[in-house]
Amino acid sequence: KTYDFGLVGLGVMGRNFILNVADNNFSAYGLDTDSEKVKSLREEGAGKVVDGTTDKKEFISKLSRPRKIMLLVPAGGPVDAVINDLSPLLDKGDLIIDGGNSFFTDTDRRAESLESKGIYFFGTGVSGGAKGARFGPSIMPGGDKDAYEIVRPVFEAVSAKVNGEPCVDYMGARSAGNYVKMVHNGIEYGLMQLISEAYDVMKRGLGLSNQQLHNTFDQWNKSKLQSFLVEITAEIFTKKDELTNKDLIDVILDKAKQKGTGKWTSQNAMDLGIPVPTIDVAVSMREISSMKADREKAESLYGAKSIKGDSSLTVKDVEDALFFAYIVTYAQGMTQLWAASKEYKYGCDMETIAKIWRGGCIIRSGLLEDMRKAYARDKALSSLLLDKDIAAKAKSCEVSARKVAAYAIGQGIPVSGMVAGLSYFDAFTTGRLPLNLIQAQRDHFGSHTYERTDREGIFHTEW
Ligand code: 6PG
Repeated sequence: KTYDFGLVGLGVMGRNFILNVADNNFSAYGLDTDSEKVKSLREEGAGKVVDGTTDKKEFISKLSRPRKIMLLVPAGGPVDAVINDLSPLLDKGDLIIDGGNSFFTDTDRRAESLESKGIYFFGTGVSGGAKGARFGPSIMPGGDKDAYEIVRPVFEAVSAKVNGEPCVDYMGARSAGNYVKMVHNGIEYGLMQLISEAYDVMKRGLGLSNQQLHNTFDQWNKSKLQSFLVEITAEIFTKKDELTNKDLIDVILDKAKQKGTGKWTSQNAMDLGIPVPTIDVAVSMREISSMKADREKAESLYGAKSIKGDSSLTVKDVEDALFFAYIVTYAQGMTQLWAASKEYKYGCDMETIAKIWRGGCIIRSGLLEDMRKAYARDKALSSLLLDKDIAAKAKSCEVSARKVAAYAIGQGIPVSGMVAGLSYFDAFTTGRLPLNLIQAQRDHFGSHTYERTDREGIFHTEW
């Protein structure tokens, strides 16, 4: 008997993904060097057509051709190690799918080297965490367009569905899948930062209890802010700590870790010359959060903040401010994708990206359907903020966004994500910025020349 689908790396993600494949009537075979992991796959997969081994030769011999082999191993060295191990055993036309958060240029390198052997390589973003992998992730595959057909049926079956439409589609050439997933994660960082700012404003500013925060986020999740991250935030506020029976959120250390995908998004945005300030700030805030000892020293040096409420500021204002910031964050990320697609010739379709993010992934939200519609109206839209419907939504929340930012700045509550979003919005919506002065300065000290508003050409002045 041969199996339809192979999966390497039977950790939590891998095991869940392969069980999902088997649930959808594709037979699947797993490979892991750890026999315990193979054993637990067999146990959990009892009754399904799924099996596994620790032996790579046996693994390869069990797969029907063209072989479809997905890797769910840690990004970096482990991916190269598995490819080096398996590729000599493969045949022309076989397909390797890397489902990890690999850096996109690594994918380009791997694809090129495998292509010379006639093996297809798909850098594929998979989002939705462990639960998503088990019951329906959002999947972002990139690579050879024709080769995508080999794996399309499996991916469409296992992915999340929104209105019956699968949350997977071909993203574009070469490393497009990893790139799209990287920007997904950048947006994820941005939204998470913004939610934490809303939490801070409501907790320290408006004095909401954890129960009230739960109710608020729960309410928000039923309205325009409907999103996975708001949904889990609501849940978080009711969880009790098993050790102390306190609210768990209050005993969790305020140092946020990161594995690097948000930082990569910011770094590459800089390379492309595309501003994504909300994502930049989200990365910086995780870094500042890690400076816990210095923050505590500084708090005693400068004095703890005495935060006063403001009776004119409402929970509704915070909701609107968060929604406004959501819009601007998605807009920044989508513009980066739009630019990257041109620069790297990925051929991404922006509507398709919005479509497959509507379900399964960490940044899924009601807003993504509006975004999809915006791109359906104009495939070449360079910024979501230029769409009439999105603009109306942003405008309706603009006053509250300013109110919350002004209040928080006045009180010393850090809301750098919200402020970065607002300033980006203000700059983007201002026809004439003061940067004519920067051009004058550049020409003044370095003869760097300038252009004029009233005539064509390059000018220099002896200042
Ligand atoms: C997803 C997530 C996932 C990512 C985690 C952790 O889409 O399922 O983006 O791929 O690894 O969110 O990221 P950090 O450790 O960098 O916060």
